[in-house]
Amino acid sequence: MNELHLGRVRKLRTVLVGAQWGDEGKGKIIDVLSDDVDWVVRYQGGANAGHTVEFGGRRFVLHLIPSGIFRLSTRCVIGNGVVVDPLALHQEIQEVQATGIPVQGRLFLSDRAHLVLPYHRAFDAGRERMLAEGERIGTTQRGIGPAYMDKAMRTGIRACALCQPDFLEQVRVRWEESADRLRRFGLDPVGMDSWVEPLTQAARALAPLVADTATLLNDAIARGEGILFEGAQGTMLDVDFGSYPFVTSSNATAGGACVGSGVPPHRIDRVIGVLKAYTTRVGEGPFPTELVNDIGQRLREVGREYGATTGRPRRCGWFDAVVARHAARINGVDLWAVTKLDVLEGLDPIRICVAYECDGERVHTVPADSRWMARCRPVYEEWPGWRGSIREVRNVSELPNAARRYLRRIEELTGVPIGWLSVGPGREATVPLDPPGIGL
Ligand code: IMP
Repeated sequence: MNELHLGRVRKLRTVLVGAQWGDEGKGKIIDVLSDDVDWVVRYQGGANAGHTVEFGGRRFVLHLIPSGIFRLSTRCVIGNGVVVDPLALHQEIQEVQATGIPVQGRLFLSDRAHLVLPYHRAFDAGRERMLAEGERIGTTQRGIGPAYMDKAMRTGIRACALCQPDFLEQVRVRWEESADRLRRFGLDPVGMDSWVEPLTQAARALAPLVADTATLLNDAIARGEGILFEGAQGTMLDVDFGSYPFVTSSNATAGGACVGSGVPPHRIDRVIGVLKAYTTRVGEGPFPTELVNDIGQRLREVGREYGATTGRPRRCGWFDAVVARHAARINGVDLWAVTKLDVLEGLDPIRICVAYECDGERVHTVPADSRWMARCRPVYEEWPGWRGSIREVRNVSELPNAARRYLRRIEELTGVPIGWLSVGPGREATVPLDPPGIGL
């Protein structure tokens, strides 16, 4: 879909967001959309995210580099809203380069992005260890929260410092402060000597990638180029709109794309929300439709629901329309991409949570208070399932009626049409709906 712009065709600027607790299969949808995209932009989060990309017969788990790096015509930006671990990024770049894919001139790191340094990781892991059961967030221990903490405290170090001769001195000053903080928590500060050498090498390798990416992107917009903003995590992990405090530390919702990249709101054309056909989450916190039974176990095994970053088994449950409506509203979702429909094959009936019941009250929106949300019981509708594989389906009309009715119900409950459907892991197992929406 393109539009006329200053007398010539211009490509779309799209924000792609996770509509649940992350791991919705965004990487695959990004891959499908990438044909028409000149730039892929990460705008929040850090190496806590992970998506698996298959390229040249090998599997890569990218944590910081946008997956667009494997398409030579695409340029990639790590925006100012991302927190960047220079050691992790350096390693990822080396792995990508080892496949013969060039990075220089194609990957740009915002000069305003904050750095995640080894003392942030130490603090993240140590704090989780010290918290009592029930208080732990279950973080990925990648130092994400402490890096955003330093950003808000105005004690962070930004990527522009990688190019400065006194970079290590700046790090030393902050490390000393953080060592005090760690000791006060009864934690052992990790000696700087153990990581100063790899950090120096990483800084040298990353400095040429540092750029004023907000200017690059706005110039690209002026030329009519296509941009895909790749959200990490999901709406329910957003620091404002997720199940606080069991969230990540950034704005994973669509609004984050603007503040995390320097592209103004009115330059965004559309928002695509990615929804898994059921629900999963990793880490702690409320999850009203969680299935701690055989069905949950089956979803985990059939859907291969193990974390790409930490390998942790994901908690699994039925589709939650309260969460999906919340995501549609907060992100302004124009179209859904529904993933992993095939995983529901053979389950009968299939349940959809349409509201919560809490302390005798019917609840239709996501509560702000996580303790209250933890007491919410799902109100379910039951829908008939279907037998047989749908993995070969390439047109919605080939789906069993029961699968179509299930999808149609998701559209009704959220008020958003489906634009893409994924029925299997391969790239070819993605079905576009043109025009969008399930016709019955
Ligand atoms: P943090 O982002 O490492 O601080 O972790 C905070 C919460 O977000 C934890 O529940 C993590 O499991 C969760 N989380 C962070 N990144 C991801 C992701 O990419 N997918 C799913 N959950 C995530």
